[in-house]
Amino acid sequence: MSDEQVAGAGVDRIDIEVTTACNLGCAACPRTVAVGRGAPATVHMRLARFRRILENLPPARVLQFDGAGEPTLHPDFPAFVAAARATAKFGVIGVTTNGLARDPSYFMGLAAAGLRRATISVDTFDPAAAARLRAGTDVDRLARAVTEIARSIEITTAKLCISRLNSDAITATLARLAQTGVRAIEVVPVQAHHPDHAAWCLDDAARASLVARLAAFGPTLGKIGLFGAPALQPAGGRCALPERVLTVTVEGSRSPADRTGTTRPSDASTSPSAPSRPGDPIRPWRPGSMPIAPPPPRPATAAVSIRPSIRRRLRRSIRPRRR
Ligand SMILES: C[S@@+](CC[C@H](N)C(=O)[O-])C[C@H]1O[C@@H](n2cnc3c(N)ncnc32)[C@H](O)[C@@H]1O
Ligand code: SF4
Repeated sequence: MSDEQVAGAGVDRIDIEVTTACNLGCAACPRTVAVGRGAPATVHMRLARFRRILENLPPARVLQFDGAGEPTLHPDFPAFVAAARATAKFGVIGVTTNGLARDPSYFMGLAAAGLRRATISVDTFDPAAAARLRAGTDVDRLARAVTEIARSIEITTAKLCISRLNSDAITATLARLAQTGVRAIEVVPVQAHHPDHAAWCLDDAARASLVARLAAFGPTLGKIGLFGAPALQPAGGRCALPERVLTVTVEGSRSPADRTGTTRPSDASTSPSAPSRPGDPIRPWRPGSMPIAPPPPRPATAAVSIRPSIRRRLRRSIRPRRR
């Protein structure tokens, strides 16, 4: 089934949580907050249950392994990806990951199983900020992981969850990401899941300042698309769009989705303004993410004229030799 066919099928994106296990302890993450309140730290969805869920899911443009936990920690995760691909119901199969639970070579296996997109949560490369925001993160290892994963996974994007702790350093973060080979960068504002983190949230003025800095820096990113969540917009973007998103929890139940805090990486990585790679079909732009600084159109390939003498030599070199 083509991406266009699944896009017409009614559901844009399905987020599915396959494990609640995690190797990090990001302070503001709903998982960290829930575990702090006594929720079990590790629940894995069984493959048999996942297969039953797959049978019941509608086709969708994107199936994203995401949720409260690190999907790659599920011991059967490659089999989950392969099972999803075998249904042929989904245009793109992706994962949201911290990129640190496995060796980057693990992602080559995921690509072989059918994973086309990796959204890597970065937030910051500043060690002190990372210790507060994404406890357990070695920022240099993270930068290397992003670079290596981007070599294996066709569409690798970086996700920045911005709070008052990492907002000032955003341009330094973008500059370092520009060296990694990511195809797009998504920026979302932090949401407080615990009263302790309310002070970390950006108010209207801080959001406006962030967007202005992103808009100023974006053009220097060249071919890398920069996208912001609707919640970065002046009014906060609350429930502005009727998005067709299903969210499935690790227990297999559907939960209401709040998409205002997230960009739609499907758009970020496939909109006409995002760079394309050979063989990647360009689908029409859909409203949802705010293209803060879409990359400039790529110049048409210049016609190359080869001197006749070089052309003759080339022809000789590719002609099969007679024995
Ligand atoms: C819960 S994580 C699960 C996937 C994976 N463990 C990861 O970190 O990418 C999914 C996304 O939620 C983001 N996130 C975590 N806490 C958040 C918060 N308080 N507000 C907004 N996004 C948050 C993370 O940065 C990540 O991009
Ligand atoms: S790595 Fe992801 S799931 Fe784990 S604590 Fe951080 S944001 Fe939450």
